[in-house]
Amino acid sequence: MASETEPPDLRNAHVIVVGNEKGGTGKSTLSIHIIIALLKLGYRVASIDLDTRQRTLTRFLENRQSWGVNAGRAIELPFHHALERGGKDSVGENEIVEFTSFAEAISRVEHAFEFVVIDTPASDSYLMRLAHSLADTLVTPMNDSFIDVDVLARVHNDRRQRGATAQYAALVLEARRQRRLADAGLIDWIVVRNRMASLQSHNQRQVAGSLVRLSPELQFRMAEGLGDRVIFRELFPVGLTVIDSIEEVTDKGTLSASQVAARGEVEALIRTLRLPTRTDAIAHMEARHLWFERTLEFYKELIAKGSAEPV
Ligand SMILES: Nc1ncnc2c1ncn2[C@@H]1O[C@H](COP(=O)(O)OP(=O)(O)OP(=O)(O)O)[C@@H](O)[C@H]1O
Ligand SMILES: [Mg+2]
Repeated sequence: MASETEPPDLRNAHVIVVGNEKGGTGKSTLSIHIIIALLKLGYRVASIDLDTRQRTLTRFLENRQSWGVNAGRAIELPFHHALERGGKDSVGENEIVEFTSFAEAISRVEHAFEFVVIDTPASDSYLMRLAHSLADTLVTPMNDSFIDVDVLARVHNDRRQRGATAQYAALVLEARRQRRLADAGLIDWIVVRNRMASLQSHNQRQVAGSLVRLSPELQFRMAEGLGDRVIFRELFPVGLTVIDSIEEVTDKGTLSASQVAARGEVEALIRTLRLPTRTDAIAHMEARHLWFERTLEFYKELIAKGSAEPV
């Protein structure tokens, strides 16, 4: 896809936000795999970790860097920025510190990188809303459970009926509305089923059916998804992923059938994202700047006034 000699499109980085208000659905795992897959395709990738508490993505990249140093190998790494926790006493002051740090991180990378991947924490905050409204592509992992579907639309006791739009979907729809106003930009929203069991239960089929019904209404696309596989979690301490040449570093020298399948799932996910190539990037940089500055100020004012929502 990309070649070493071809200069990057400096007009505009394509922003991929990985988000879901629900915790533990696989946001950091997907962020990690998307970042490494794009680096392996030869793209210039920046990453931002907005999860100031857990810092999972940051920890993974630190492990990856150490692995490269210890193995004496050049290993692909993104240009990474981890948001610092504001050390102030008041929540409002901390939010403003985090906002400023995020704005700096974005402005540092948007001209020089083709993709910016942002891993977000499971929360609803002004920062989260701002990050979502910057997304060109929003990736939302969810597990095969009605508890997870419930953040999109309240699950009705008759599961064939549609409940009210729930908080996270409302956040995304609002982010979309704001983006459209700012620069006519679209947020391509992809819901990814994660940790799918190899044998589909009746409940999983029902969950999948609910998502298919919600998809045209909330305008998200569905990706094939990732299976529940040990390989997606066991390489974290060494900073590697299944799409690295792990057959070279494991004793066996070959991949198991599950590992081959896992690799295929990551590749399929990247294809489903339908990310832009260098030639068809959309020029919306200026509009985004204006919008970003304005929203930043707006949220800062709300925070300074002590507005109760979101927490
Ligand atoms: N496809 C998968 N197969 C096996 N384990 C997985 C898979 N996806 C995620 N996990 C594991 O599930 C747990 C939660 O994943 P992860 O940390 O990526 O979620 P998260 O949404 O980032 O969580 P948080 O909301 O706490 O930030 C981790 O232990 C991770 O290793
Ligand atoms: Mg996480």
